[in-house]
Amino acid sequence: MTTRVLFVCLGNICRSPTAHGVMEHLLREEAPELQVEVDSAGTGSWHVGHPPDPRSQEAAARRGYDISHVRARRVVPEDLMSFDFVLAMDRSNLEVLSDLHDGSDRVHVGLFLDFHPESPVPEVPDPYYGGGNGFEKVLDLVEAACRGLIEEIRQRPG
Ligand code: 4NP
Repeated sequence: MTTRVLFVCLGNICRSPTAHGVMEHLLREEAPELQVEVDSAGTGSWHVGHPPDPRSQEAAARRGYDISHVRARRVVPEDLMSFDFVLAMDRSNLEVLSDLHDGSDRVHVGLFLDFHPESPVPEVPDPYYGGGNGFEKVLDLVEAACRGLIEEIRQRPG
């Protein structure tokens, strides 16, 4: 059975495309036996069709992740019906998703960092307006939370 995972942030050019590319990479390298489809989307539409922010692409590439293929799109109500996990980077993204969610428990709608085994923060801080170090912090959080999510998917009943 294929598990479908959607990562959601505001612009879909920094945090969620990073999670998207890192998750695909870790699945390929560390869990090739799992069938997982990964996607990402934003709650805002300013950057629809754009590749990830160059700062996100560069920070990811320094750790060996290629996220250049991701193109920003806006989250749509159907996403809440077709994905198994819809994971928000922060509470404000989660509020938007909760408004689109009909309450069905066939989809897990929640904060991505709930899958980080020891996250120092509950939300992935938005690096867009900050200094360069923000992109490294995003990667640190995303790598650990992706590994936690992969473990969760491994435990899912087939
Ligand atoms: P993201 O970061 O939500 O991690 O993609 C942002 C990107 C763009 C904007 C805000 C946050 N913006 O306002 O354009």
